Amino acid sequence: MRDIFYFLALALMAVLVACDGEEPEPEVNTRPQNVTEYNKVTEGLKDYYAGNEYFAIGTAIEPASLDDPAGVALLKRHFASITAENVMKWSTLQPSEGVFNFGPADRLVDFAGANGMLVFGHTLCWHNQVPDWVFRDGAVPASKELVLQRLETHIITVMTHFKGRIYGWDVVNEAIDDGSGTYKNTIWYQICGADYIYKAFETARAADPDAKLFYNDYSATNATKREKIYNLLVDLKGRGLVDGMGLQGHWNIDAPSDDLITAALNRYKEAGVELRISELDVSIYPSNSDPESEYTSDIALKQAIAYGRFFRIFRTFKDDISGITIWGIADNHTWLDNFPVQGRKNYPLLFDVNLVPKQAYFTVINF
Ligand code: G3I
Repeated sequence: MRDIFYFLALALMAVLVACDGEEPEPEVNTRPQNVTEYNKVTEGLKDYYAGNEYFAIGTAIEPASLDDPAGVALLKRHFASITAENVMKWSTLQPSEGVFNFGPADRLVDFAGANGMLVFGHTLCWHNQVPDWVFRDGAVPASKELVLQRLETHIITVMTHFKGRIYGWDVVNEAIDDGSGTYKNTIWYQICGADYIYKAFETARAADPDAKLFYNDYSATNATKREKIYNLLVDLKGRGLVDGMGLQGHWNIDAPSDDLITAALNRYKEAGVELRISELDVSIYPSNSDPESEYTSDIALKQAIAYGRFFRIFRTFKDDISGITIWGIADNHTWLDNFPVQGRKNYPLLFDVNLVPKQAYFTVINF
């Protein structure tokens, strides 16, 4: 009997010693590596980047996106948030003074609500897709006071309408200059100076104190522009008017560099705001003068490497980035088909024109 106890004690000690020094088993990556494997599972981007560990992955949609059953299935499988690509802009929401048209945006917000998705509001104040009447007073240009009063009315009416259904708003979009100036010389700036920015944020804060307020811009990794945006964020933050910074992320297969992205994210973080990548797409054309190209295997590989590189950086900022919105669902619908070159087909998204995941998709989910 004593021998048996002695034997059991030795065996137990051996097990304990073995366990102590043992490396944990490496987690087996069961994520699909190709389309065949993808078709056998139901998970999507939102599962691999679950919001509590990483960030809400979203996409930009139009009301027409909801008319295509295959597109809707893809949307539901992969995305945890939506942004209205166009229908929350001023030209849709208030095409004439005092005439509000919430129908198209309501459709998107209702869809999001029914499917447990967050909504990012885009955008309350921008110089594009804003009707001329905002800046006119009959036959003459509107005064600064009138323009600011219209801005206030627009923001209060829109935010009140959507109250409780929007996670955060792009309050002001693209107000910083790309060149040597501080502020972009938009019609807003020409009439109001920088006051329109403060008016927009003050009004938004009062209209819905629970909504997160974002400043949103492109080329936000450019070092010179970055510093100007940083200064604006610090100023707004000091006044309690801003909560987040949206880096649009209209990038391409060559740029921006890891260093520029990392430096920008770190800098905006220093301003004490949450970060979003608000309009990500990766053009296959590094230059405006590149001729139209087929989506070759070489380009697919380069794009996969670029997407992989960008998401690797985003993951290192997972505690700071609250959301990543990809600017479109699939390559069958992208604004880049008409910008900067009208009619030059582009393929900037994670799903191809037939809604099939691209190599870039597999790079993004396999980490
Ligand atoms: O609605 C009209 C339609 O009535 C008309 O028949 C048709 C003819 O061209 O145009 C339609 O309007 C288009 C609109 O999208 C809605 O589809 C405009 O021409 C077109 O210029 C507009 O493009 C949008 C662009 O903003 C306008 O600046 C893109 O879809 C949208 O993706 C893009 O999004 C912006 C973000 O809001 C801000 N950051 C940059 C980003 C890319 O430009």
